Amino acid sequence: MTTPSPLRQATSLFQSRFASRPAVAASAPGRVNLLGEHTDYNGGPVLPFAIERRVVVVASQAEDWLAVSGVDGQLESFDPGGSASSRWTDFPRAAARVMTGFGLRIPGAHLAVASTLPVGAGLSSSAALSLASVRALALLAGLKLSLADLVEIAWRVEHDELGVPCGRMDQTVVANGVRGSALLIECATGQIERVPLPGKVWIFDTGTTHRLADSDYPRRRQECAQALVVVQERGFSVRTLAELSVAQLSHLSGWLPPPLDRRTRHVVTETARTRAAAKALAGHDLAELGRLMVEGHRSLRDDFQSSTVEADLIVESVMQRGGLGARLTGAGWGGAVVALIPGEREARIVAEVTSDFRAAAGRELPAWAARASAGVRREQVVSG
Ligand code: GLA
Repeated sequence: MTTPSPLRQATSLFQSRFASRPAVAASAPGRVNLLGEHTDYNGGPVLPFAIERRVVVVASQAEDWLAVSGVDGQLESFDPGGSASSRWTDFPRAAARVMTGFGLRIPGAHLAVASTLPVGAGLSSSAALSLASVRALALLAGLKLSLADLVEIAWRVEHDELGVPCGRMDQTVVANGVRGSALLIECATGQIERVPLPGKVWIFDTGTTHRLADSDYPRRRQECAQALVVVQERGFSVRTLAELSVAQLSHLSGWLPPPLDRRTRHVVTETARTRAAAKALAGHDLAELGRLMVEGHRSLRDDFQSSTVEADLIVESVMQRGGLGARLTGAGWGGAVVALIPGEREARIVAEVTSDFRAAAGRELPAWAARASAGVRREQVVSG
C-alpha cells in the first residue's frame, strides 16, 4: 500500500472537517544545508537546497479562522489579532497577521495541513509551514506576491511574531528552491546562484529535537554580535563578521576573549569553506566537498559548540565506513546529519552507520536520501 501524498491527505482532512472541497492549495519544502552554518546572520554565504519532503496547506475563505493538522486531526480555532499560544496554529495565525500589512483582506479561513517533513529535525519544518500558509492565504486573497515578499513575510512570521531570532537562510531556500540545484545564497546581498546538484544526499535524523527559541541559538547570536563590536573597536572596518578574512584571524588571537574568539573563527572559516564548497560542487569534486563538510562539522563541534554526541557519532561512523563527507545540518543542538555517500557503496554504508548508531545509542536511526527539489508553489486542488 502506498502512503497518500500530503496533498491528498490535507484535502481529505479538509473535506472531512469542513464538508467541502478546499478552494486553494500550496506546498513548501524542507531544506538541508550542505555548508554555511550560522553564517546567514553574520553576513556570510550559505549552500542549502530544498528537499522533496513538503508541507501542504489547503484552504478556503470563511467567516472565522479554523485549522486542522494531519498530526492530531484536532480542529483548532485561532485569532490573528490574538497572542501566541505555543500551538502549531501560531504559524498560520502569525502569517495572517503579518499579511494584513501586505494587503490581506479576508475575514477568515479554514485550513488543513499535512506534511511529510519531520518536525524539529533541523529540516526547516517551521519555514515550510510558514511559507505554505502564506502562499495559501495569498491565493485566497488574490494577492500577487513575489518570492522576495514571501521570504520577507515568512521571516517576519518567525522572527517578529514568534520571537525566533533566526536569520533568513531557511525562508530564502524554502521559497527559491530549484529542482536539481543547491543555492549559494550570499546573505549580505541576497544574491542567489544555482549550483547543480544532480545526485542525492543522505539524511540521518538524530532523533534529538530542538526548538530554536529554547536552544543556545539566541546566545550564539549575541556572542557573534559582541565579537563584531570588539573587532570594530579594534579598528577593523568590517560591517559583519563574515567580512573578516581567514588571514585576519591570526591578528585577532590574543585579544578577542573566549568564547568570542572561537565563535569568530567558526564564522570566518565557515564563510571560506562555503564558497570553496560551492566551487567544488560546481566542478563535480565531491571528495573536496565532503572534506569541507567534515571540516565544517568539526568547527561546529569545537568552535561553535552547537553539535551533539549523536551527531558526532554519526559523522565519525559515516567517515569510517567510507562516506565522502558528513556534518550536522541546520541550527544544531539536535536535528539531522547530512552525508555524502558514493552511490555504488550507499546500501552497505547506510546499513553500517545505522547499525553503529543502534549499538551506541540503543535506538534506530531514521535515514533517507534527499534530492534537490522545487521551492514553495501553488498546487492543483485534487479530490481527497
Ligand atoms: C536555523 C536558522 C537559520 C540559520 C541556521 C544556522 O536554521 O533559522 O537562519 O541561522 O539555523 O545556520
